[in-house]
Amino acid sequence: MKDELTFLKSVHRLRDLPRDGLPEICISGRSNVGKSSMINRLAIRRNLAKISKKPGKTRSLNYYATGGAYYIVDLPGYGYAKVSREQRKFFADLTGPYLNERSELRGIIQLLDSRHGPVSGDLAMLEWLQEWGGNVLYVLTKADKLSANGRVRALSAFAEEYGDKDVVLFSAVTGMGLDDLRRWIRRIIDT
Ligand code: GTP
Ligand code: MG
Repeated sequence: MKDELTFLKSVHRLRDLPRDGLPEICISGRSNVGKSSMINRLAIRRNLAKISKKPGKTRSLNYYATGGAYYIVDLPGYGYAKVSREQRKFFADLTGPYLNERSELRGIIQLLDSRHGPVSGDLAMLEWLQEWGGNVLYVLTKADKLSANGRVRALSAFAEEYGDKDVVLFSAVTGMGLDDLRRWIRRIIDT
């Protein structure tokens, strides 16, 4: 079943987080990796989340409501060098406490560019995820830019580095991996 997504609100301060106790799945990844594009694919409606060629577009926790009684949360992208020190501190003030303390958080979808290994910023996040111990789906994005061989290589390189994890190749352009992504979300929400 497809859950329609609708934009609920942008949260800039922790005290503005929803208080209805609905479960949440958040989407993490560095700036420009394709978080908003993935949300638009999930949404059926195409222009829900703002896409930009300019990294650092998403600066708040953006909440999307679904027909399935849970929220999808688009996190600010990390690792974008041109955001000011103040801006980075702001991410840390918002995203760090959210990840560490939000009891509604049931799963994290971690995006990585399928075309290369983790870049700076990813490493700290990947380490944090290993320690977190909750449900994580790793999504290798922009897979349309790889050949069929390149896709196989990307998956095996990931498995070699991180072991047996939930991982999918994804393309917001072709829809590759979308069904697996939806199935994972359903499984996490239903358990
Ligand atoms: P921030 O909001 O800055 O953190 O970035 P984001 O992770 O939300 O990335 P966004 O979805 O805005 O995409 C960044 C750029 O990558 C845009 O130019 C997208 O069109 C492009 N892009 C995203 N997903 C894909 C994909 O699956 N395939 C291809 N070819 N391009 C993609
Ligand atoms: Mg975005």
